[in-house]
Amino acid sequence: MCGIIGCIGHDDETVDVLLNGLSNLEYRGYDSAGIALKQDGIDIRKREGELDELRRSVRRDSDSLAGSFGIGHTRWSTHGPPSDENSHPHSDSLGRVAVVHNGIIENYQAIRDELRSEGIPFTSDTDSEVVPHLIARNLEQGADAEEAVRAAVDRLEGSYALAVIVQGTDKIFATRSDSPLVLGIGDGACYLASDVPAFLDYTRDVVYLDDDEFVTLTEDDWSITDLNGDPVRKTVQTVDWTAEETGKSGYDHFMLKEIFEQPTSLRQCLSGRVDELDRRITVEELDDLGEPDVVQFVACGTSYHAALYGAELLRDAGINARAYLASEYATSPAPVSPETLVVGVTQSGETADTLSALREARNRGADTLALTNVVGSTAARECKHVLYIRAGPEIGVAATKTFSSQLVSLNLLVEHITGRAQVDQSREFLSALRDLPNDLQHVLDESNAREIVDEYADKDAYFFIGRGLNYPVALEGALKFKEITYEHAEGFAAGELKHGPLALVTENTPVFAVVTGDGEQARKTLGNIKEVEARGAPVIVVTDGESEAERYADHVLEIPSVHERTAPMLANVQLQLVSYYMAEQLSRAIDKPRNLAKSVTVE
Ligand code: F6R
Repeated sequence: MCGIIGCIGHDDETVDVLLNGLSNLEYRGYDSAGIALKQDGIDIRKREGELDELRRSVRRDSDSLAGSFGIGHTRWSTHGPPSDENSHPHSDSLGRVAVVHNGIIENYQAIRDELRSEGIPFTSDTDSEVVPHLIARNLEQGADAEEAVRAAVDRLEGSYALAVIVQGTDKIFATRSDSPLVLGIGDGACYLASDVPAFLDYTRDVVYLDDDEFVTLTEDDWSITDLNGDPVRKTVQTVDWTAEETGKSGYDHFMLKEIFEQPTSLRQCLSGRVDELDRRITVEELDDLGEPDVVQFVACGTSYHAALYGAELLRDAGINARAYLASEYATSPAPVSPETLVVGVTQSGETADTLSALREARNRGADTLALTNVVGSTAARECKHVLYIRAGPEIGVAATKTFSSQLVSLNLLVEHITGRAQVDQSREFLSALRDLPNDLQHVLDESNAREIVDEYADKDAYFFIGRGLNYPVALEGALKFKEITYEHAEGFAAGELKHGPLALVTENTPVFAVVTGDGEQARKTLGNIKEVEARGAPVIVVTDGESEAERYADHVLEIPSVHERTAPMLANVQLQLVSYYMAEQLSRAIDKPRNLAKSVTVE
């Protein structure tokens, strides 16, 4: 999704700070980029394509481009295709105003028609361009810069994070509604961004903005007011992410780095929460969570797969629980009561569909909890309770380490809800959690995923099957695979194959089967493996060796034999590696897959 950066107070280095910020936001996904600098007037440079296109254009004029402050943007197209014209910043016809915008302005067509009927020419197809024209019209009508921006924002419906500069005013103005925006407070400089990594090289002190707050940044000060202009008191928080954590540390891709970081991120997630001596799990954040009768999970994509896992754990413990796709729940919510807990599982805490579902649940009277990675994110602030998964920054578009940390955090949540957290935890489960980071390291060290993918490149399609807690792993395996290899992949509940998908199975469709333990689900999955084998499909099993699955496999991806609740996490890591190495072999843009964005802030 689009990214915003703004900085004031860096004088001659402004261009570098803006370009560096945009580069740190690349992971969000984008198709064009631009900056606007305050000089004598306002100088705008914008280019379709990679950030390097913009860098080249800026470098050509580096002498003349030394503005004292500015704003920048990476665009992920919604209205109008990627092009120089549709890139941000947008301006009015006389170049007095520059605006960058994330989100969607829903009433833009009516505003555009109105402005065009007054003879105002438009140069792009975007919804965003109405904003600078509205501001410019307000200026012409006698408003000062701040009044002009506020009055323009007043007209907007939809979602937006906006940063604005106006000729003749040494300030950056910004505001948000349903789209993230965070302020960075540096030493003699201030920053604005849609996400903290944009300015993490300069400061870790941040202020998260809430909807309808209006920011004014000057060189040595910042202020936040509400839409009426009344001051709003905000707390400066210090984030514990470092700039090093957001670098690649020698790995070819962020995704590979993040896969290999999982032992560490799981240790972080468990730290101080599991006490083996006292046989307790303690999650302080959940102290004031009641005892819900019903738990509903809402989430999208990978987080939805984590939610399916969490719901199954709760059902196994006798609690009525179900996972919903947030985009569906938002418009067709399940019935709730005050005893219903709705859990938004969201890495970013900014996914528009998930926020919408959570708001719907809250408005209907349910208790809400955000299970998220990002401290201070919108979900964390809007939900009554929050459980942080502590995975550290995830830059690769494909979620990897955050999925594993979500699964572990869901285990902690389930123990809390079922009331088992405080008393006599099973030793077996606690030691499984304790050993999980080492077990995962073992899988990473020993995996033969790289060798296996060589044999299976260039097939018609790839299927992933599993049952029970391994069903979400199958779905996640397929999602990761299609996301970064661009090959057709589908995940199925193993038992569903025979109800239709089996028609697709041939000798050209490898099937990855996840089989752990030797219980009923494993035995039934073996039956499903035989079904695909009989149709000539190559079978790759991910297994702990407890069942006979290996006997029916062309290839085996081994995991250690562990607790039934942690085994799916290890199996998932093998599938992450399969996807990564296949995408590498196919030379795909692994960290920035086409058409995808890290943080999906539109519905
Ligand atoms: C896939 C992926 C997406 C996200 C989804 C929800 O690798 O990353 O499917 O899981 O967009 O994002 P969050 O978890 O930020 O709400």
